[in-house]
Amino acid sequence: MVTSLGMPPLPPRTDAPSWRTAWDRALYGPDGFYRRHAPADHFRTAVHGSDLMARALLRLVEAHDLDTVVDVGAGRGELLAALHRLSPELELLAVEVAPRPATLPPPIAWSPVLPESVDGLVIAHEWLDNIPCHVAAVDDKGDVRVVHVDPSTGQESYGHRVSTPGVPPSMSEWLEQWWPLEGREPGTRAEIGTSRDLAWADVVRRVERGLAIAVDYGHTMESRPAEGSLRSYLEGRQVPVLPDGSRDVTAHVAVDSVAAAAGGTVTTQRDALQALGIDSSRPTLALASTDPAAYVGALSGAAAAADLTAADGFGDFYWVVSGAGGISAKLG
Ligand SMILES: C[S@@+](CC[C@H](N)C(=O)[O-])C[C@H]1O[C@@H](n2cnc3c(N)ncnc32)[C@H](O)[C@@H]1O
Repeated sequence: MVTSLGMPPLPPRTDAPSWRTAWDRALYGPDGFYRRHAPADHFRTAVHGSDLMARALLRLVEAHDLDTVVDVGAGRGELLAALHRLSPELELLAVEVAPRPATLPPPIAWSPVLPESVDGLVIAHEWLDNIPCHVAAVDDKGDVRVVHVDPSTGQESYGHRVSTPGVPPSMSEWLEQWWPLEGREPGTRAEIGTSRDLAWADVVRRVERGLAIAVDYGHTMESRPAEGSLRSYLEGRQVPVLPDGSRDVTAHVAVDSVAAAAGGTVTTQRDALQALGIDSSRPTLALASTDPAAYVGALSGAAAAADLTAADGFGDFYWVVSGAGGISAKLG
């Protein structure tokens, strides 16, 4: 049988680990993908390629009179390196499981753990999508079960029903509130966002003064994907999902749930960057004849702004913003 979602039914429980366990080992185990690989070698994020994101965040930092930026899941420190170029006096801290890159400017601090408290801006750019979560699916009897996966083959199997005693009640409670599966057709899936909610709430509680912003691709109640959103990327391409440490494993973020857990608001990147003065309008042709260098600079700035605000692209990313009355509070 193939369900109308195009998925074959899964076999019953085997010894395979849950998705969350397999995913965690694959990315962060002793030989995990992110201990060995730079994100920029495998996919492009909005902090690679231009310093526009850094410029936008600098505007925010200045408006709120902050002097510190903490980048959680900093990759190879690309965003902080850009901020350091733009404003060398800022205090910058990368929180990252991978080792510090040798080429990073020495004033940028590097740590594998979050600071106990922060007076400044915390940014987590494409971090939450890499926080492993449990996966649930509706089996062919209509029961909602935890999905397990063989890390070497990707073969999935069903584990316990999520409402069984012994499975943490927070999983079924989260599904009921944020991604209801009861009564949905067999094969319908969900990624259970409890691990992301807890991770982000733990970051936000450390901010004594300032803001915390999580930027990621995601969905809200109105747009949950019935087939789930697990993906793998390797060397610039989307490849079959496999939690064996050979590739990235990611899933979109339930941003409304994350915002509720940490006390924040959700906006699109397009709107957030517009509020921060990022403008994708092209310069006038007249500038090309009066000041060719300024014209070329403005043209490339407009192209970068268009890239970061594009529909069906980075512009559709979500910003979950907590603290200090939000991003617009102090912008003139
Ligand atoms: C998709 S990459 C994003 C990198 C960068 N922020 C960017 O946008 O290009 C996610 C990064 O988060 C890091 N990471 C994941 N969980 C982490 C944790 N608990 N502590 C520190 N770093 C973590 C990974 O090692 C990886 O470099």
